[in-house]
Amino acid sequence: MPYDTAAVIEIDKAHVWHPFTQMREWMEPGHQPLVLVAGCGPWLEDSLGKRYLDGNSSIWTNIHGHNHPILNQALREQLNQVAHTSFLGFTNPTAVELARRLVAMLPGSSLRRVFFSDDGSTAIEVAIKMAVQYFPQNGHPQKIGFISFENAYHGDTLGASSLGGISIFRDRFKSHQFPVTRIGSTESLTAIDGSRVAGLVIEPLIQGAAGMRVWPAGMLKTLRGWCDENDVLLIFDEVMTGFGRTGKYFACQHEEVFPDFLAIAKGLTGGYLPLGATLTTEEVFNGFLGSPAEVRTFFYGHSYCGNPLGCAAALANLAIFEKERVLEKLQPKIEYLAERLRGLEVLPNVKEIRRCGFIAGIEVAQTNGDQFDWRDQVGSQICLAARGHGLLTRPIGDVIVLMLPLCVSQGEIDLAVDAIRKGITEVCGRRD
Ligand SMILES: Cc1ncc(COP(=O)(O)O)c(C=O)c1O
Repeated sequence: MPYDTAAVIEIDKAHVWHPFTQMREWMEPGHQPLVLVAGCGPWLEDSLGKRYLDGNSSIWTNIHGHNHPILNQALREQLNQVAHTSFLGFTNPTAVELARRLVAMLPGSSLRRVFFSDDGSTAIEVAIKMAVQYFPQNGHPQKIGFISFENAYHGDTLGASSLGGISIFRDRFKSHQFPVTRIGSTESLTAIDGSRVAGLVIEPLIQGAAGMRVWPAGMLKTLRGWCDENDVLLIFDEVMTGFGRTGKYFACQHEEVFPDFLAIAKGLTGGYLPLGATLTTEEVFNGFLGSPAEVRTFFYGHSYCGNPLGCAAALANLAIFEKERVLEKLQPKIEYLAERLRGLEVLPNVKEIRRCGFIAGIEVAQTNGDQFDWRDQVGSQICLAARGHGLLTRPIGDVIVLMLPLCVSQGEIDLAVDAIRKGITEVCGRRD
């Protein structure tokens, strides 16, 4: 289908407000945004027919590639039944089956209950509100505080952003957020009185929006131990790390440490549709049971909780993992990516390469190791240059994110790393 690219851009600039975007820059006449119209496997196509490798998995969501026949078929079948029915007072077989499958994916854990929501932020909101309600109605009225980590990111709704530790996303809204104790490492826990704490939240193994910062190994066990000693609910935010990105289904499986709440979204539907889920234990669940008059009910929900289409996509996502032996095939790709990234270390402007499984962040800096002036937006310039070599991705400051769909081939990994190399060389070479 032909697209009138100029008309789309003109109307966009007249009527649309994009996320995380300075719209004055966006609306400048010289700014020609890509109009993405199609996808196939790890490739995206723009309205002018140019193809790009989806280097950040369409903002960390896509798992098996675009236009996957199994996902497409599952959605068509669900559409032929019904697109949406309410989960409030009713149930549906697709969501029920998905809950069963999700619980079965975590055999060593006590996570047996699934609460569906819309996205990563709402999956976190659910954990926050459950934790806040759980303790007071079970004899601990003072246990309502939270601990989170510096530089953490848990989403943009007010509750989720209260837990966040990145000042640019948080400071503006501080007056409307709830207080949180922020720590930089597990050592700080020794100084904290857990008797007033309901929950501790972490992005396990790696902080994403912080710039792909990898945590020390063994940390999750320490957190689990502290939470158990202090009767604090441990929340793992696997919105980014879930569904194979780290090499296993979930990051927590690397250390065999399980939380009291597991928040998942993004890759849950293979990157097809918005859907969030918060898994929790029977212990937490039982703490909400009672007669209606006791008012222990979890009064929380969204119109699209348990949406059958989203759940059908999620079931198809899991089916592809099994049918295509995705995790097995991913292991050599992780090794290959690591090897190819090591080749970038020789570039004088590459300060550090951080990687966890198939997630990577390449931090660039001046040749003396000092950061570039953030106003120069060197990371963005590099991504723009990489686009010219067939790779689409977004930086976090001066960290170039590489998070490819798990279905990529070795050749596509080569293309991605080469495009980043050329982007860095072109942009940083110009500056020196
Ligand atoms: C770790 C983590 N948690 C939560 C979120 C928020 O997810 P969403 O954008 O789907 O609300 C994100 C998004 O990037 C994330 O990386």
